[in-house]
Amino acid sequence: MKKNYQMRVNGKEETVNVSDTTTLIEILRDHLQLTGTKEGCGKGECGACTVLLNGEPVNSCLVFATQAEGQEVITIEGLEFDNQANRLQQAFVQEGAVQCGYCTPGMIISSKALLDKDPHPSREIIREALSGNLCRCTGYTKIIDTIEKASKEG
Ligand code: FES
Ligand code: FES
Repeated sequence: MKKNYQMRVNGKEETVNVSDTTTLIEILRDHLQLTGTKEGCGKGECGACTVLLNGEPVNSCLVFATQAEGQEVITIEGLEFDNQANRLQQAFVQEGAVQCGYCTPGMIISSKALLDKDPHPSREIIREALSGNLCRCTGYTKIIDTIEKASKEG
């Protein structure tokens, strides 16, 4: 049965009429047209669907409407005016850490969450923070180099 769920998405109060098993990624992409968040595996393994839920990176394919109710959600679109995320995004492109780009929004969200907590992380910590974000194109070295470089400039 469908009912109304409310949540704050990218700073805006939103109400969606969905069933309690609708996932957050479905809400974002299909109901709010926020298609920057990508769906890869759909079962919590690839990190393409990563968004911030109350500031913490989560796989939005594993979050149900009931869990998102009343919470604060930030997607890649919500980082449009975030200097750090923009710097990261530019660095990803400049350093060749983007190929097909499918993993990139999730990588940027996870990287931003990391740098918010730890502005100058070690490579080890970067690797750990991105361990849930898979990239089938680049290998991870360029991505880790990019985040390390961006953190030094920040
Ligand atoms: S689509 Fe959510 S983790 Fe892969
Ligand atoms: S750039 Fe293609 S999956 Fe990462």
